[in-house]
Amino acid sequence: MTVISISIPESLLDEVDNTIKEKGFANRSEIFRQSLRHFISEGRNLNELEGEITATVTIIYERIARRDRILDVQHIYSDIVSTFLHAHIDEKYCLEMIVVKGKATTLRKLVNALRSSEQIKQIKVAVLKET
Ligand code: NI
Repeated sequence: MTVISISIPESLLDEVDNTIKEKGFANRSEIFRQSLRHFISEGRNLNELEGEITATVTIIYERIARRDRILDVQHIYSDIVSTFLHAHIDEKYCLEMIVVKGKATTLRKLVNALRSSEQIKQIKVAVLKET
């Protein structure tokens, strides 16, 4: 195995350590290995989608983030964005659930555009229908 070093915010590392305790991972390396495999397989599934899809893209971002940039992305891909729901989770975070209906290729572009934003802490894609 190869040893690498990565930089992550301390608050995220705290969450990692708590999750290790809660879920019984052997150590930090193990939780990172499993997370990476999960992330890569999720990405592969998204890449394999074809045709017309109905999906939700849920993002969590810090309230202080510049929301106009996130909205810009939604406007660029407005031909597949049906609607969205915004919720204030707490004093620090906001959640947005975007309902997408259209070409799988465009969904991929939308997700990649959102992923390139450092302001977004979490992004989850759920495909509900593939035709
Ligand atoms: Ni909000």
